[in-house]
Amino acid sequence: MQAFVDTIRAAIAAATGLPDAEIRLESPKNPEQGDLAFPCFALAKAQKAAPPAIAAALAPKLAAALSGIACTATGPYLNFQIERGALARTILGEIEARGAAFGSSTEGAGRTIVIDYGSPNIAKPMHVGHLRSTILGMALVRLHQALGYRTVGINHIGDWGAQFGALVVALRRWRGEVDLERDPVMGLLALYQRSKAAIDEKSASYDAAFAKEARDAYRELESGTDGDVRKQWRWVTQVSLAAFAKTFARLGVAHDLVRGESYFESHLQPTIARVEAAGVAEVSQGALVVMLGEIDKGLKETPCLLRQSDGTTLYATRDLAAVFDRWKEFEFERCLYVVGGEQKLHFRQLKAVLKRMGLAWEPRVEHVDFGLLLGPGRVKIASRKGAVLVLDELLDEVVDAARERVKEKSAGLANLEAVAEQVGIGALVFNDLKRERIKDVIFEKDEVTSFEGETGPYVMYTHARSCSILRKAAAAGEGGAEPDWRAIASASPVLLQLGRFPTVVRTAAAKAEPSELAQYLLGLCREYNSWLAERGNKVLGEAPAVTSARLALVRGVKIAIANGLRLLGLAAPEEM
Ligand code: ARG
Repeated sequence: MQAFVDTIRAAIAAATGLPDAEIRLESPKNPEQGDLAFPCFALAKAQKAAPPAIAAALAPKLAAALSGIACTATGPYLNFQIERGALARTILGEIEARGAAFGSSTEGAGRTIVIDYGSPNIAKPMHVGHLRSTILGMALVRLHQALGYRTVGINHIGDWGAQFGALVVALRRWRGEVDLERDPVMGLLALYQRSKAAIDEKSASYDAAFAKEARDAYRELESGTDGDVRKQWRWVTQVSLAAFAKTFARLGVAHDLVRGESYFESHLQPTIARVEAAGVAEVSQGALVVMLGEIDKGLKETPCLLRQSDGTTLYATRDLAAVFDRWKEFEFERCLYVVGGEQKLHFRQLKAVLKRMGLAWEPRVEHVDFGLLLGPGRVKIASRKGAVLVLDELLDEVVDAARERVKEKSAGLANLEAVAEQVGIGALVFNDLKRERIKDVIFEKDEVTSFEGETGPYVMYTHARSCSILRKAAAAGEGGAEPDWRAIASASPVLLQLGRFPTVVRTAAAKAEPSELAQYLLGLCREYNSWLAERGNKVLGEAPAVTSARLALVRGVKIAIANGLRLLGLAAPEEM
């Protein structure tokens, strides 16, 4: 597709003298008018003429200059229509040649994208917010990789903070009262919740002695002493990480770095010193803060807290330390934080501090926020057993639903279990990615696992169906003839959609919006399935030249879908 765009742009440049940067082609509002359009408004000033008159004068000149591409004027627009045979040959030829690399490029070579995603907290199970972060983050990693960037996926585990002082005290006092053997994370959660109440002055279970011991314990942890507190904390970290690893593996995620907040322990004092040296820190009610009102009026009342009056540090201190470290190590093009909208204030503060410090790379730091994941009726998704949702349970549920669907569709499938897992997880992932990320996601397992509608299984099934056509063709020895491209003239909406794939990958990455790709895939499948359903578009058993052309289209679509699914983190089973 790019080849056509380049040819047309060169012809416009030659005919008008416009600089390259000003020649932007669009998709015509009405696809009947052409495949690409050029609005003539930019020329009006220089030529002192109305855009429609300019378009009318240019059309015959461009039509004569371009071969295989028709050019007509419609109002202020020049519309270009690529000859159908050339369109099919070029686009399908490119897909065939590039295969699994179709859609990818090297434009990001030499540049690094840091992506902070997943990032659960120890002593608690991963929740649905972490699930969304993981799914979105994984897609952003793959999209940037496809564009040739070096990506560094970081799991910024929440493993530091005052709450762990309280948890250690809870372990001292109540260890015998919970089961820490069978499911340590659930046991720790119970202790964690109980300890939170014990240090909360507003709670009925508030216990002043407990609260003091908890503060002392956190101070001991932060002091670096390798005593009992640290030993307990280390154990909590280990069992939690082991549990997270299982969930991540099931989702197909492997972080490049697991760097929890505790990693920055030795960076905390230097970080504070650096902010102080920049002259932006001040003491307020015994705490060290950075006032942000000058940078961002909305933050007037919410300074960034770097150090509490008792000397301990905060979430923000650790994030500052982390971002300094990331910049030093990677000089990133972008540092993306895939974290829910609840933390908007935190990241706004973080960026404002960087700005106040005069750090030129501040705009490269981006909070990629997202909405909630809710159950039908917009209620919080709960688990079968209790209030806390265990992610693995949700995954099991969706895989069970997918297994039933697959059994219905392809009875006797040899690798049913593996396919059910791929389809189930894929259904969940696609459902999370198909809408703009800031919107809330409603998870309804029967809906998301359906093979029809705007679902992952629908896209996967379209792929599997294409694989089946190709298998039958191979078995019957069809598809070897020289293609007659006129046999897919009516498929030009599908071809144009295929041609857009590389652009969609680029925009989805640039906007950190995987939904652009998910929506693209739905559109491609819709166009393609309706073309296949049209009478007269039979693929197999036609005249050899006709079958060859149609098989090339099937193969092109199959490759684009497989590549798109892969970038979103879904599998593309050949049978389902
Ligand atoms: N652990 C945090 C949470 O669960 C998310 C961390 C996000 N990353 C970061 N650098 N702050 O809420």
